Amino acid sequence: MRIYDLIAKKRDGGTHSREELEAIVNGFVSGEVADYQMAAWMMAVYLRGMTDEETAELTDVMAHSGVMVDLSPIPGIKVDKHSTGGVGDKTTLVIAPIVAACGVKIAKMSGRGLGHTGGTIDKMESVPGTKTALSQEEFFAQVNKIGLSVIGQSEGIAVADKKMYALRDVTATVSCIPLIASSIMSKKLASGSDAILLDVTTGTGAFMKTVDQSIELAKLMVSIGTHHGRRVAAMITDMDTPLGHNIGNSLEVMESMDVLKGRGPADLTEVCLQLAANMLVLADKGSPAECRAMAEAVIADGSAYAKCKEMFAAQGGDTRVLDDYSLFEKPAASYELLAEEDGYIVTNDAEKIGSASVLLGAGRQKKGDPLDFAAGITLHKKRGDYIHKGESLATFYGAADKFDAAAAEYRSGLVYGSEKPEEAPLVYALVTKDGVERY
Ligand code: URA
Repeated sequence: MRIYDLIAKKRDGGTHSREELEAIVNGFVSGEVADYQMAAWMMAVYLRGMTDEETAELTDVMAHSGVMVDLSPIPGIKVDKHSTGGVGDKTTLVIAPIVAACGVKIAKMSGRGLGHTGGTIDKMESVPGTKTALSQEEFFAQVNKIGLSVIGQSEGIAVADKKMYALRDVTATVSCIPLIASSIMSKKLASGSDAILLDVTTGTGAFMKTVDQSIELAKLMVSIGTHHGRRVAAMITDMDTPLGHNIGNSLEVMESMDVLKGRGPADLTEVCLQLAANMLVLADKGSPAECRAMAEAVIADGSAYAKCKEMFAAQGGDTRVLDDYSLFEKPAASYELLAEEDGYIVTNDAEKIGSASVLLGAGRQKKGDPLDFAAGITLHKKRGDYIHKGESLATFYGAADKFDAAAAEYRSGLVYGSEKPEEAPLVYALVTKDGVERY
């Protein structure tokens, strides 16, 4: 099987067999297939697409290119959750403790920030002392003891995806539905959970810019997971505007703790409750209404917040900062971004806000860059709010020499208008193996 012929086959619109996909993916991992050949093949996939069966096979081949985690030493149904990425998307820190407090085990591997989007592991590390790299024994023991652990994705998971993603990033082949679906689902299949809830974000701050594209991606990921014997559902959530008010690592931890303490922003709280309820449904805890009520109850009685503290404590974190935010590391400086005119905020582009927070030091401009955990943005006005000239739109935190560039980036995504824009839904649809329910 010559790689040249396989590239030509996809270029001409052909469909690969499992053996052919193994030759391409495993050849790339071993170094027999060169970067330029893999790049050419992925561009052919980008332009020609893949059948759903072909994408499901590709996903399985990618999953088996690394370690397949066996979670069977942890009794009971284990539920995972994955977001396709967002700005100010701190839902994992809220939902994982809620679901664990309802008695469903969470053994979760999460990622770091990518481009303008943040990552759960970076946020967790803003709590001093928190370890996000545990051995498999420590990870299993913690989940068996307290029902919850969130750690960084181990290097050995879906090795092919890591290499393929790095190449996609520099060859304009990221935004391709079969390649995104196989990238995400290969990691989820390899991570071993029985059930997976996908949060497919849609809008300016997301990979998928329209609801229809997001539904297409969600349907494909649900079908791949189902094909491989997992229970999978996907929610399509809005990412035109960041969730909540805070963007940045410790800032997002504070806001997540506010939700767990029952005093979080309404939009973030609502999305978290819906996500948590759907995870509980996947774990057979009851009907959607019963699961929603359970999620609300563990916030109201404090048990979800207590579970979150238990997790941080088990992973070495100083949980005093969760009770008293003034104990978090302080930002070097702050800056008020003032409105330049009167009007409604019609657009508050989430991608630009995410990029502004990266410029402030909350994310990495290149791999390995150090993070400023205290850096970030607090939004005072969001899409749909009215603002007067001279009022504060947002507060920036970080090193003072970064404020000008971040302000220019933020303003480039801001549009004022005289009419209040129509309210965008927080959740657009739920996709299950039985179909799509649009809200
Ligand atoms: N997240 C991933 O893990 N992979 C993609 O391709 C896109 C988003």
